[in-house]
Amino acid sequence: MISIRDLHKSYKDPETGNSNTILRIASFDVEKGKHLAIKGSSGSGKTTFLHCLSGMITPDGGKIEINGTDISKLSESARDRFRANNIGYIFQSFNLLDGFTALENVMLGMMFADKGNNKSRAIELLKKVGLGERLYYKPAQLSVGQQQRVCIARAVANNPDILLADEPTGSLDPKNSEEILSLLKEVASDKTLLLVSHEQEVLNQFESVLDLSEINQITYA
Ligand SMILES: Nc1ncnc2c1ncn2[C@@H]1O[C@H](COP(=O)(O)OP(=O)(O)OP(=O)(O)O)[C@@H](O)[C@H]1O
Ligand SMILES: [Mg+2]
Repeated sequence: MISIRDLHKSYKDPETGNSNTILRIASFDVEKGKHLAIKGSSGSGKTTFLHCLSGMITPDGGKIEINGTDISKLSESARDRFRANNIGYIFQSFNLLDGFTALENVMLGMMFADKGNNKSRAIELLKKVGLGERLYYKPAQLSVGQQQRVCIARAVANNPDILLADEPTGSLDPKNSEEILSLLKEVASDKTLLLVSHEQEVLNQFESVLDLSEINQITYA
């Protein structure tokens, strides 16, 4: 269960120093196990929203409750641990570590969780996403679609309840895009999945689609 109340996030304009409100969400709830897509144009705050939800950035105010824990009340290290145990994150720009193999990248994702490292599970997951033959390849030696598969394996490594996916098919061709999306839905079959995208073909794959502007009460001048 995800529950947000009165979330605010602004960024400072680096040139003028003026504060720009990106998110102002009075109330937003996602029930456990739901698969929801959130659409929004480029720059509308989708990534900022997911970063707040995962605790990777701290909002200026408001409450974000995940499975009953108000993550805004946790210290930074407690929040990192909470995220490792409860949330799998698929980044818009992958965020794989260049110097490490696919297998090491997945195992590194396990380091911060309570269960710790488990090489055989990491191998099993990479096989599941179709990379059984690429365990020892580094990101630069993998295609973009293969890198995204590593990200999916890493995101589910700690068997989190919640998966957050930021434009997971943004850099893929239509065929790969379809494959990644169905893989994502498969690994999320017993999880809450929140995916953000501006691609209509991706949004069409979801029964529940919400426009960020429906929950984000920002009035632009
Ligand atoms: N660190 C920052 N400092 C200042 N402004 C920022 C910062 N990060 C993001 N922004 C601004 O916040 C707005 C929302 O950015 P965000 O990355 O959340 O958009 P998005 O909806 O994910 O876009 P896209 O679809 O292109 O990925 C943008 O206008 C961006 O310029
Ligand atoms: Mg984004």
